[in-house]
Amino acid sequence: MLLDPGMDLTLRPMRYPDFYERYRAAIRNTWTVEEVDLASDLSDLKRLTPAELHLVNRLVAFFATGDSIVANNLVLNLYKHINAPEARLYLSRQLYEEAVHVQFYLTLLDTYLPDHDERAKAFAAVEHIPSIRAKAEFCFRWIDSLGSLDELRTSTDRRSFLLNLICFAACIEGLFFYGAFAYVYWLRSRGLLNGLASGTNWVFRDESMHMDFAFSVVDTVRAEEPELFDAELTEQVTRMMEEAVQAELAFAHDLCGDGLPGMSADDMRAYLEYVADQRLVRLGVPPRYGTANPFAFMDLQDVQELSNFFERRVSAYQVAIEGTVTLNESF
Ligand SMILES: [Fe+2]
Ligand SMILES: [Fe+2]
Repeated sequence: MLLDPGMDLTLRPMRYPDFYERYRAAIRNTWTVEEVDLASDLSDLKRLTPAELHLVNRLVAFFATGDSIVANNLVLNLYKHINAPEARLYLSRQLYEEAVHVQFYLTLLDTYLPDHDERAKAFAAVEHIPSIRAKAEFCFRWIDSLGSLDELRTSTDRRSFLLNLICFAACIEGLFFYGAFAYVYWLRSRGLLNGLASGTNWVFRDESMHMDFAFSVVDTVRAEEPELFDAELTEQVTRMMEEAVQAELAFAHDLCGDGLPGMSADDMRAYLEYVADQRLVRLGVPPRYGTANPFAFMDLQDVQELSNFFERRVSAYQVAIEGTVTLNESF
């Protein structure tokens, strides 16, 4: 079984071809930071209001460490316990993508913050900005929750692992990052920071795939060991998601203050609740909030991503593509 302890090396016969196909699909999505043009953002930054500038500064400070935290959990926990070589291939590719994301945000902060003191402060946000620190502590607590587990021997061990996996996919990549993307697309909807939005399109697609892979692992474990998915696990997942929504909402209050045109902490609360319900339902857990999506610009996101995809230079994909790119593989 997928969570049995060990170091399975057998690729043929392949037990989980779906994971291998996800690895191949991810490679077809190769992009590089150098392709993202941030030049027009610099003039936009000069015309932001103080409230908008505050939001952008906080947002990029969150981006400064978010993907590194995810990469650490991948190495320390996911790679260790998901015991199939084809799944580990996918995780290797995901680790590379997280590195590209870290590089993208490093480049972004270097570009946005020419002043070295300001830059250093943004990179240290996880230490001194309470709303960012609280989110990081939530992540660290879940990384550490598996700290002493070398092997998943008992049902309790496996449930602990599932909670860690679900936390990073549904709450961190699937909620914290989606919240962050919503600010980016709100800015773009107002004609601001198109460079950031264009890089975010690629990060967004990568994160959607990371989340889908993790959910597919959950589905596989559920098929193999249905008894793990008891009422207590459902309850724990719901509580974890509530806590993630609260942490992201505190961040929203910090970013939005008294509100900006089309973006307030109340709007963000509704969006987070809507996204949280989607994650819960995908996991087979009853929705918790029943809130509608308040952000039309996020509904359009898939369409936007699609059109950008075809506008891009073909050469960007020659890294990996042989044959044709088909829609159902990328979206
Ligand atoms: Fe990432
Ligand atoms: Fe990710």
